[in-house]
Amino acid sequence: MAERKRILFVDDDPVLLGRLRESMADMAPVWAMVFVESGEAALEAFERSPFHAVVSDLGMPGMNGAQLLQKVMVRHPAALRFVLSGSDDRALAAGVMDLAHQVLAKPCDPAFLKSVLRRSLHLGSQVHSDHARELVARIGQLPSVPALYQEITRLLGSERATQEDLGAAVGRDMAMTAMILKLSNSAFFSLRQTVSTPAEAISILGVDLLRSLVLAHGLFSQAGGFRYPAFGLAHLWRHSVAVASAAKQVAEAQGLGRSASAEHFTAGLLHDVGVLVLASRFPEAYARVLDLGRSGGSDLESAEFHVLGVTHGEVGAYLLGLWGLPHAVVQAAAWHHQPACQDTPAFTPALGVHIADSLLSRDAEHEIFSTARLDGAYLKSLGLLERVPAWGEAIEPDPAGLRDLIG
Ligand SMILES: [Fe+2]
Ligand SMILES: [Fe+2]
Repeated sequence: MAERKRILFVDDDPVLLGRLRESMADMAPVWAMVFVESGEAALEAFERSPFHAVVSDLGMPGMNGAQLLQKVMVRHPAALRFVLSGSDDRALAAGVMDLAHQVLAKPCDPAFLKSVLRRSLHLGSQVHSDHARELVARIGQLPSVPALYQEITRLLGSERATQEDLGAAVGRDMAMTAMILKLSNSAFFSLRQTVSTPAEAISILGVDLLRSLVLAHGLFSQAGGFRYPAFGLAHLWRHSVAVASAAKQVAEAQGLGRSASAEHFTAGLLHDVGVLVLASRFPEAYARVLDLGRSGGSDLESAEFHVLGVTHGEVGAYLLGLWGLPHAVVQAAAWHHQPACQDTPAFTPALGVHIADSLLSRDAEHEIFSTARLDGAYLKSLGLLERVPAWGEAIEPDPAGLRDLIG
């Protein structure tokens, strides 16, 4: 039987802590849970026996949640760190974003909290990511998740938030508002009416696509700094947008419905987020990866593994999982270079992104990101090989007009 995961809950309010304990009680067969009332007690509990995850309140007397997570990050980097933050701790919440894997709204719907913990704790086994976990721990601070993304995640986890609240949060960010209006008004998302507010745009694009756009846009605009001939992060953004559009077109050519096609777009947008993280956090090592790819003709993931001991697929999947993206999107990041490893042998976003990525790599602009070839044997086993020419025809570059929004 798999080892029982250990989770530590911290809240200075005994009533709230008691409620948390009650609402989590049904998980006792799977998780060993400990509940303490202060940061100091949390660190003592860690010293007695480490935890896989800590869920902490933010505003606490003495050591607050941010100070606690800072200490946990240094002393026990392998533990996942979650924060529950109430509306009065906005100022504190801003400081905790780089420290916590996820910031959740308080009061948090217990079912949502369980689902976040379940997904995060079981990611390691999904993507075989011991290396990814170690490497992410070595990065120290996590790539900083955009404030707007955290805000949207908070709203989605809260029992009271409405579509209008989501729209208002997006509306405060001009670049994001421009992007989602452009996307939802483009013929690519095939609509007749004109969309003029963020709330309407969200109802058309769906919450998952919105969150991915916010995440991708935020990560790309703040990354910067990596330079290599014919490879910059703006170039990677254009590649991501092209793969997103192409994956959606391939899904449509396959007769998949609207929400499945939108999920392909989402998965395409984020599929190479591991490249972004590795290149911006380890620029010298990543330049060696690209050198190796060029000189030895080795594909990108093999070169990454050789130099860094980890691939962008593993790192990307690990982070996207921690940030709460849907399973299919995490799988696409993990397996877009080896679709045969995905957990369901079917036409999933992992396969759609693999097809889009491989077909686009015929074009010199995309070659550097996807030297892996189309997995013909896998497509054949699914009875899909003869569809390749039709997919090739379905792809047209950047119909949503997003490629130049960054860079
Ligand atoms: Fe890739
Ligand atoms: Fe790619």
